[in-house]
This record gives sequence, structure tokens and C-alpha cells, in this order.
Amino acid sequence: MMKILVATEKAFVAIAVKQIREVVESSGHELALLENYKSISELLAAVADADAMIVRSDLVTSRVLDAAKKLKIIVRAGAGYDNLDLAACSAHNIVAMNTPGQNSNAVAELAFGMMLYQARNGFSGKSGSELRGKSIGLHAFGNVGRYMAEIGKGFGMDVYAYDPFVSEEDILKQGVKVCKSVDELYSACQYISLHLPANEKTNKSVGYSLLKKMPAEAVLVNTARKEVIDEDGLLKIFGERPDIKYLSDVEPDSRAVFEEKYKGRFIFTAKKMGAQTEEANINAGVAAANQIVDYFMTGNEKFKVNK
Ligand code: 3PG
Repeated sequence: MMKILVATEKAFVAIAVKQIREVVESSGHELALLENYKSISELLAAVADADAMIVRSDLVTSRVLDAAKKLKIIVRAGAGYDNLDLAACSAHNIVAMNTPGQNSNAVAELAFGMMLYQARNGFSGKSGSELRGKSIGLHAFGNVGRYMAEIGKGFGMDVYAYDPFVSEEDILKQGVKVCKSVDELYSACQYISLHLPANEKTNKSVGYSLLKKMPAEAVLVNTARKEVIDEDGLLKIFGERPDIKYLSDVEPDSRAVFEEKYKGRFIFTAKKMGAQTEEANINAGVAAANQIVDYFMTGNEKFKVNK
């Protein structure tokens, strides 16, 4: 019997936890829960005797792994695993996995929710604009990008994508126009939605020179990571172009500057909530539990992300 810890600083909804518990206990394992924890010491104590761990955006550093003497597998219930120290996982012989695609629709719906809210001036009664006929560029065409394309087409938008890791044929098959460079994408689209992971190649990769290329009434939508934005460049273009807007599910470090200078031109959610739906919590949480149970039973490493 293995002890499987769910450690979530931002808790799953109760029904997702119930379903995770069913998967764990019906396979003969034990579930431990650490939800809404406030300090790293709580996490260090909880992980001490865990054989497996499910997390969300929780930071899993080498300090956490040092405390996890029995840990064999950690699953990030979600897509982005920039919160896991992968080298440290490997050094500790711990398999790290993610659950790609499980919360993608929720993220895409939030992106459109923010776009509609902004386009209608926060439902203030002031005349706004429509999405139909506008262009949207998907910066990366993974699981969220595909849902974005589907919804965008439903709204009658012109959908473009740039992704050097996806074949042109695959993008075209989804009824999406292919951009061969990131410059081409930003030049073509009034709306740009970010769906790229945060890593050393993408950090600060979206900044002044790209945003400057965007057409009039440009809107940058970020349901990815704050790290991919060069905030100095973003603030510079905000200062130069009063038409540009920034809608983000990840609060920028320079929030106070936006609040002070650019009221009405941004949306920042209270807490990262792209994946905060009952469905996404169930999908990602249960997938994570199943992957752990399967790993213990068969050694299946299909979703392993460390070397
Ligand atoms: C992800 O990478 O899956 C999303 O950013 C969701 O993150 P969360 O589970 O912390 O809400």
C-alpha cells in the first residue's frame, strides 16, 4: 500500500478530491490531503512519508524533495511543469509527470471570457466591440491553442497560429492559418493569446518589439505564465500606445503601475483561475491519480517529463 499525497496550495473542488480518493482507495492505496497550506513547513512535514504526490502550481524545489524520503513519483495535475525542479527530481530518482490536455478547455474558456469582458468595457453599459471578424493569433498551438481555435472559429474570428513544434499540415487541418514566424503572427493579429510554456527559451520572449507590430486596438491575452512577458517592454508599449490592452490570468510583478496609470486597459484575475473549474479539477486530478496507480502497478511512464 502506497501513501499518495495531494498537496495543493490552491485546492481542487471537493468533488474532484472525492473522485481522486476513489481511484486511490479502490486500488488499495492511502490518500493524504494537504490543502490550502500557508507555509513550506506544512508541505515539508506532509511529504515526509509520502510515496507519491499530486500537485498543481505548487513549488517543488530540491528542499521539498530532500524532505520526501520515500517519494517515487510526483504528478503535476495540469499542463505546465515549470514549478517542478526536474533536475532535482531526477537526482532523487523521482519520476515527474504532467497531465497534458486535461484542463485545457477551462483555460481557453477563461481567455474568451476575459476577451468578451474587455470588448464590452466590463459590462459597464458603454458601447464596445465584437469578436466576429477580428483576428486572433495563437502563440503556440498545443492543447489550449486547439480549444482556442475551435472557440475562436465559433465566434467568427480569423484564427492564426505560430508553433515551430507543430506541423503546418496539423495547424491547417484545424482550419487555422499558419504563420511562419512570430513576427508574422503579431503583425497579422489584433488579438494575441499566449499558450507557450515558461522555460529558459521563452522567458521574457514577449516584449516591446513584438507588441509594437500589433495592429490598432491590440489585445494581449495571457493565460500562460507571467515569466514569458518582458514587463519593461510591455509597460513601454503601454506608454506609447493607448489602444493596447493586456488581459492576464497571471498577475504581473508591475501590477501597481498598471493600476496607477492604465485603468480600464487591463484585467488581472484575483488568483490564477484558468484551470479553476469543477471539470478541469476532476479531469486533471483523476488523471494524475490514475497515472500514479498505473505507475505503481505497471511502471507506465507515458507522461514522464524528466530524464
Ligand atoms: C496548468 O499549467 O495546467 C495551468 O496553468 C493550471 O495551473 P493550476 O492547476 O495551478 O491552476
